[in-house]
Amino acid sequence: MQYITQAEKLFLLRTDETAYLLLINEYGHPEHLHYGTPVALADAAALRYKRTMPYGAEVLYAEDDPTYCLDNLPLEWSGIGKGDFRVSPIELELPDGSYTCDFVFQFAKLQPGARGAATLPGAYAEESADAETLVLTLKEKVFALQLELIYTVYPHENVITRSSVLHSQEASPVRIRRMMSQLLDLPNDGYRLVTLDGDWIQEAHRHDRALMPGCFVNESTTGNSSNRHNPGVMLAAPTACEDSGNVYGFNLIYSGNHYTAVELSPRNMVRIVSGINPLCFCWQLVQGETFETPEAVLTFSSHGFNGMSHNFHEFILHRILRGDWKAKDRPVLLNNWEAHFFDFTRRKLLRLARRAKKLGVELFVLDDGWFGARNSDHAGLGDYTVNRKKLRDGIEGLAQRINALGMQFGLWFEPESINTDSELYRNHPEYAMQLPGRTPALGRNQLLLNLANPAVRDYIVENVSSILDRANITYVKWDMNRHMSDMYSAVCPAGELYHRYILGLYEVLERIFRPRPHILLESCASGGNRFDLGMLCYSQQIWASDNTDPIERLKIQKGFSYFYPPVCMGAHVSQSPHQQTLRSTPLSTRFNVAAFGALGYELDLAELSPIEHRQIKEQISFYKQVRHTLQFGRFYRYQLPETNKDVFLAVAPDQSHAVLSFVQTLATAGDSNDVLRVKGLDANACYRLTAVPQKVSLARFGGLLKHIMPFTLRADGFILRTANRVHALPDGPFSLCTSGAALQSGVGLNDQFIGTGYHKDLRLWGDFGSQLYVVELEQEEEAE
Ligand code: DGJ
Repeated sequence: MQYITQAEKLFLLRTDETAYLLLINEYGHPEHLHYGTPVALADAAALRYKRTMPYGAEVLYAEDDPTYCLDNLPLEWSGIGKGDFRVSPIELELPDGSYTCDFVFQFAKLQPGARGAATLPGAYAEESADAETLVLTLKEKVFALQLELIYTVYPHENVITRSSVLHSQEASPVRIRRMMSQLLDLPNDGYRLVTLDGDWIQEAHRHDRALMPGCFVNESTTGNSSNRHNPGVMLAAPTACEDSGNVYGFNLIYSGNHYTAVELSPRNMVRIVSGINPLCFCWQLVQGETFETPEAVLTFSSHGFNGMSHNFHEFILHRILRGDWKAKDRPVLLNNWEAHFFDFTRRKLLRLARRAKKLGVELFVLDDGWFGARNSDHAGLGDYTVNRKKLRDGIEGLAQRINALGMQFGLWFEPESINTDSELYRNHPEYAMQLPGRTPALGRNQLLLNLANPAVRDYIVENVSSILDRANITYVKWDMNRHMSDMYSAVCPAGELYHRYILGLYEVLERIFRPRPHILLESCASGGNRFDLGMLCYSQQIWASDNTDPIERLKIQKGFSYFYPPVCMGAHVSQSPHQQTLRSTPLSTRFNVAAFGALGYELDLAELSPIEHRQIKEQISFYKQVRHTLQFGRFYRYQLPETNKDVFLAVAPDQSHAVLSFVQTLATAGDSNDVLRVKGLDANACYRLTAVPQKVSLARFGGLLKHIMPFTLRADGFILRTANRVHALPDGPFSLCTSGAALQSGVGLNDQFIGTGYHKDLRLWGDFGSQLYVVELEQEEEAE
């Protein structure tokens, strides 16, 4: 085998830049030796945790070995009741009514490729040489239970995935109350724990905290992977920063309630367990049955957070995304939601579409409100009959008209939900998730459908499929707008429902979208309420947030970028002032942030001035030239020493060019010159760095214009108001030629406006100003 080496009961798992070493010890327990920079099998003895003396107050595993105490060991798995008092990966209610369990090694198997799961989506390797799998089979010491610990190595992505599978041959049922995907014990190196937290319109904000003795849990309890705590977590060495230092990343290929516990033990070891949240979980396993856990994804980089992100991005691009759109450039879309909400007709839509086409938009998306009595969010969910008052020739007719304009057509669905005011509810109230004898709690005026029920799944699959097959639809937005409550199902025990819902969701997505790989699927849950690797196994992109204010989006997109590549993040330019923050931002900044994602526009184009139309046309045309790099290039983030300036950077794999977005949040008076650093280029090559032309509106200057112009005009007068619709000032033109080495070191930019006069090369940024820059290999002069 290429990437996994076995020497008796010692196993070395190698990726291009990392190594993972474990052994089966004399008691049959899998012991962890190392995860991090490359090491060899021969290093095992040195790396092993030393046991020399017994500790007081400890529980000894074996009578004749005073140093063997499970609580003190770095392990790969553990049980309950045998002296390990740290957070356990498994809790079983056994046939004798006890909880004590102890799994010991039986045999190991190596196999090429990835193993895949029968019930859950997971990572894949197209060629068996692209991955390698180690399966450790353990057996419970008393009961007929077998546990598989599965490790798959993805060498080029520097990723190891782990999952666990339990089989029962017990005559009486076993109840699983907790079953994690993985457990890892690392020696503590003063780690910080970094999580991505938030809520609706504030997804994925980064939070760092020192590890303290005890246990910190990053979890979701809302039924979805949630906007509160993304399943991705990081452990970073104290000095780690974006480009250097040791960083571990953990994530889960799962869309439901997740759970990652990080415990600092009295022996200064860090235990990380991750898997399905044990909250309200109780799964009955009968003889001959198997329970599979979702795959946990582990990576390590000594090149800081950016290094860790590169591993995750590569992993998602090559081992998670599927379908025809996996590696295809995403079209520039226009979504009608913020332009119309529920108030549209075919005529209004076509008017918007014609305007969009003129600007260069490639995909027109019709959002909520096209079916049943869906004229507000109080009615209609669950129904699929097209509202003929709004769309007289149906979805087919609208799709044809959009296609005839030269654009693709996309459609919004919210298939997991139901309004009580709907035909579906009137006919099948039993499809809704609610508890007999209790009034159900509503979220956005709706209930959820019970996806654990096969009849509900069939209803969704048949209805969505038939719409998709009747019209030329190449994009679907799959929405889901509430947390789960009133969890009860007549078809399965309550302890299985959260998980069975998610299994049902995966089945529905599989049945609808696998046979239709030409459809680009964007999943959405009130924005980023289900932004996870499980959904990415079906949807090639996810709507990151309902918040499109670019300054807010900086935090959100930056947060998600730790784990997910820009191509997976739906990012739109919307109206200013912004509908949620009332913040006014330049059109350039709205684009400069959204460009680092799958770009779309979501605003009423009729409200734009001629100059704004021209600007958007230029933005889209520029984006199309560089979108492959923006969407699939190597992504870096960094913040300038002043925390009000953020840079996103995408570098082409062949290092021929790069695109940067430099955004200033609040301006500082008399700010010093900024230095722009461009990483990832060829140090010896010669490049041209150019500011992408952009304009700043005259209105931004108000009465100050008199300092720039030779004559005085009233800021609110007719002339300036009219001029503002058709003219704007050039903002921050800049161009220079230099080496990749100089760009890496950092090149100085021109001054920003500081009120001492006007120069045509000034950066006229102010609050929320920004600029895109492109870096291109300078062509050698042709010899005469
Ligand atoms: C919530 C989504 O996040 C929005 O983009 C939009 O699709 C609405 N739902 C429609 O109801």
